[in-house]
Amino acid sequence: MKKILSLVIVLALVVACCVCVSGTAKAEGKLVGVSMPTQDLQRWNQDGANMEKQLKEAGYEVELLYAANDIPTQVSQVETMIADGCQVLVIASIDGDSLGTVLAQAKEAGIPVIAYDRLIMNSDAVTYYATFDNWLVGVKQGEFIRDALKLDEAEGPFNIEFITGDPGDNNINFFFDGAMSILTPYLESGKLVCPSGQTEKAVVATANWATDAAQARFENILSSYYADGTKLDAVLCSNDSTSLGVQNALKANYTGEWPVLTGQDCDILSTISMLEGTQSMSVFKDTRTLAAQVVTMVTAILEGTEPEINDTETYDNGTGIIPSFLCEPVACTPDMIQELLVDSGYYTAAELGL
Ligand code: BGC
Repeated sequence: MKKILSLVIVLALVVACCVCVSGTAKAEGKLVGVSMPTQDLQRWNQDGANMEKQLKEAGYEVELLYAANDIPTQVSQVETMIADGCQVLVIASIDGDSLGTVLAQAKEAGIPVIAYDRLIMNSDAVTYYATFDNWLVGVKQGEFIRDALKLDEAEGPFNIEFITGDPGDNNINFFFDGAMSILTPYLESGKLVCPSGQTEKAVVATANWATDAAQARFENILSSYYADGTKLDAVLCSNDSTSLGVQNALKANYTGEWPVLTGQDCDILSTISMLEGTQSMSVFKDTRTLAAQVVTMVTAILEGTEPEINDTETYDNGTGIIPSFLCEPVACTPDMIQELLVDSGYYTAAELGL
């Protein structure tokens, strides 16, 4: 009986191995192009590294290029990927509207394109979109401010300012509008007041999501509207890099009680700020999960099967709805850092100075 059992186990292992080998064998020699916007921001380094690691583990060859936030560089890198024979392109665009021409070449060559994290606009070459639920990111930030200021119970009014990201990034339409869907009723009722009057997306946008630009705009706001001692209660910051700019401006130019500040990405610097108490929350988007989802998408495409999709309504890129997979973002507060970011292996305790 024991012998039969061992035989069965051995056979099962052999079959499992064969399945495994044939899985990677199918991927072998296939080249996947991964185009990332910049190495300046921590998250894209993680995204690129996770994609490369997981694609290689699945047996693919990878051409990973970063474009230094320069649109012509990204265009020429994608051209290179097409010329090098990439069979699928995974692209996190710098500017959603600038890749139409080069992607027309990809389409011509029959190369499927996955828009990664940011939707590529006005191009019918985009096959699928994989991202986080960007609207929900904004909603979580708005809800955090609502709850932290107790907008439903407290008398107010409370002063708030707004800052979002690059106007060429379609995601800001979801981050900002999602947050505003929660906060607008309080602005309308007068419980929230924006002393600078800067509430329009185009006005509160930040080119390239740059910390310096966020800081400069905020220094202006502080000197123009808060120098007389006006209290600032909250700043809706769409992500961590803009939040850091606001924090820098506040540290040098504001002496009142520290306001509630949101963020997104759980970048190391912002996570440390949360531990130090200068950022109230961030939104954790586990780039390992997104990369894993995109690797299964690539495999399905190359094997001629249907990739897993969970949204066919939200993301119209101007040529129609792009079938999407939305991963789930998680609101992270300082008390959650250990479990969410350290215990899960996303960061080591040492990286956070713990
Ligand atoms: C991403 C955010 C990121 C921002 C700046 C957005 O498209 O979704 O996670 O913070 O770009 O890089």
